Amino acid sequence: MGDLARLKAFYERLTPAVTETFVPDSPIDPDRLTNHLAGVTDGEAISYGLAAPDGLIVGHAFVQPLWDGPPVLGIGIEERLIGCGLGAELMRATLADCDALSLPVVTLTVVKTNLRARSLYLGFGFVARGEAAFRRPGDSLYMERRLGGQASNG
Ligand SMILES: CC(C)(COP(=O)(O)OP(=O)(O)OC[C@H]1O[C@@H](n2cnc3c(N)ncnc32)[C@H](O)[C@@H]1OP(=O)(O)O)[C@@H](O)C(=O)NCCC(=O)NCCS
Repeated sequence: MGDLARLKAFYERLTPAVTETFVPDSPIDPDRLTNHLAGVTDGEAISYGLAAPDGLIVGHAFVQPLWDGPPVLGIGIEERLIGCGLGAELMRATLADCDALSLPVVTLTVVKTNLRARSLYLGFGFVARGEAAFRRPGDSLYMERRLGGQASNG
């Protein structure tokens, strides 16, 4: 199974508890995944799939675009594996790549009620800079992490 099929299967398996704060267009448009992986090949995106021993992808973190506008980070883990430290593992790998590329800033939006994700992002040096819209205006925070900024841990 190729990367596209495995990534598509991951997004198709996600339960509403995950998609409601992670995937704006669930079920995800497969063209978005195709374009994302093409971006990785072209050096325009970062993508980490977390693979289980059987090869299934159980988590995905990405940053895109890298050079054409502010880089946006997204991350999601299968519901049954939430809270096991895998999100932190994916964040560590993804942000190490961002720092290796000397990206001056990485941005994200997070639904205000998503306290686990907010805590993870704070721990990796993201700072809330304002409000954003995910499902509706003002339901989310816009956060930034600047190169060389201090993380509280990680
Ligand atoms: C948000 C999400 C990716 C986090 O991944 P996770 O594997 O569940 O989280 P982890 O167990 O790695 O980490 C969460 C904990 O790490 C802690 N943490 C913060 N910074 C950390 C760091 N630098 N290193 C390790 N742990 C850290 C947090 O305190 C948090 O603990 P808490 O839940 O007790 O407050 C995951 O829960 C998920 O996919 N949720 C549904 C989809 C979603 O909301 N995606 C984010 C959209 S913005």
